[in-house]
Amino acid sequence: MLPRMRTRGVGVIGYGVVGRGVVDILRDRRGALERAGGPYELIGVAVRQPGAAREGLDPSLVREVDRLLADPALDILVEVAGGVEAPFEWVRRALQAGKTVVTANKALLAERAVELHALVEQHGGRLFCEAAVAGGIPIIGVLDRGLVANRILLVEGILNGTCNYILTKMERERLSFDQALRLAQGEGFAEADPTLDVGGGDAAHKLAVLAGLVLGWPITAAQVYRQGIEALTAFDLQWAEQNGFRIKLLAIGRFHPDAVELRVHPTLVPKTRLISQVMDEFNAVAVEGDLAGSQLYQGRGAGRLPTASAVVADIVGALRDEPPLRARPRLDHPPRLVPMGEVISRHYLHLEVIDQPGVVAKVATALAQRGISITSMYQPEIDHGSQVPLVFTTHPAKDAQVTGALEALASEPFLVGHPVHVRMES
Ligand SMILES: NC(=O)c1ccc[n+]([C@@H]2O[C@H](COP(=O)([O-])OP(=O)(O)OC[C@H]3O[C@@H](n4cnc5c(N)ncnc54)[C@H](OP(=O)(O)O)[C@@H]3O)[C@@H](O)[C@H]2O)c1
Repeated sequence: MLPRMRTRGVGVIGYGVVGRGVVDILRDRRGALERAGGPYELIGVAVRQPGAAREGLDPSLVREVDRLLADPALDILVEVAGGVEAPFEWVRRALQAGKTVVTANKALLAERAVELHALVEQHGGRLFCEAAVAGGIPIIGVLDRGLVANRILLVEGILNGTCNYILTKMERERLSFDQALRLAQGEGFAEADPTLDVGGGDAAHKLAVLAGLVLGWPITAAQVYRQGIEALTAFDLQWAEQNGFRIKLLAIGRFHPDAVELRVHPTLVPKTRLISQVMDEFNAVAVEGDLAGSQLYQGRGAGRLPTASAVVADIVGALRDEPPLRARPRLDHPPRLVPMGEVISRHYLHLEVIDQPGVVAKVATALAQRGISITSMYQPEIDHGSQVPLVFTTHPAKDAQVTGALEALASEPFLVGHPVHVRMES
């Protein structure tokens, strides 16, 4: 007979979208989860306003955070509250006290990566974070365990469902960015303040978490280049559609032998690539390992049950005493980050210009002076007004060459507004 296992105490901070899903699953699937991991007891749920009525939550379980953290019955702390400063303190206290921590909080992981890394090292801490990246897609487990024998060459993700939803609507329904954003807010896919999502910050948090895992070195969001989707127009999405591409907000980690590229930006992706076919609010992560080759994971990146599914998987991992993250060989020195200016790709440039003689020549000259070779040029036939879109695509060039050309053109009187600059990946 197997030895009788000790019942572990699980405490949850947060009873919002994710926390409620976690509590529901721990209650409703108890039998199966205990068979998979071992016995557990939900000892408390902490919220900001303990007095407020909570649907589906036994009021006797509601605790203050401090009391929950101080409870000797607490073995596994589940942090699904959000924010950075307060959760960092909770996680620090829990790790220092030898508790296991499960978090869905990518902002915490990416903003305080260095301190968390040190805490885990010092205290042999156990920190699980499957739900922090791509919601229900178990990509952390893939990188940490499934592909551990590989040298990871590339991680490329659609990691923000809000942006993917907006870009899908802009392409399919020919909406402007503002119209598509309002639609996303109406459908509950975008926050009232969408800055972190549409500006690329949320995807940068998630890429930092994945890159830290691949490298075995703490990576913070500040080390990830980011450009959001706000400047894109319906014209850009249409141009892409008509030329065999889609525009996606990609989070790209390219791991060279001696350096790493970490960048989040709108990207033209050929329609033939599977990742370009991931639409609406869905997420996807493409991974390339030197042994396993290319793989693509696609699924729901947010929402109560997909996210809670990943949190509960971590709780079961903790019940099973699975080792914490970082199975990958560790670096003994900080990785070299490739500055964005040195990154080489093809480029798409959309300039709105006054339709007058010599404009095309001036743009072509600015590109040629920096050694940038043009692959195509497009200007639609117009029979009204004097402003036209002018599109150039280029052969591979360093980012700094292209931004240099755009800076040189910025003061030209024929230019209307800011050019749209989208990198192209093959
Ligand atoms: N929503 C998703 O689909 C999703 C997906 C992946 C990851 N995540 C991550 O999961 C975490 C939670 O997200 P969510 O959408 O569930 O948030 P949410 O709906 O806003 O819920 C947050 C919960 O945490 C509680 N809380 C906040 N600050 C607190 C504090 N200082 N002390 C005690 N309780 C506090 C809130 O209490 P009150 O109820 O009293 O306000 C609320 O119950 C975030 O880190 C988020 O990035 C979310």
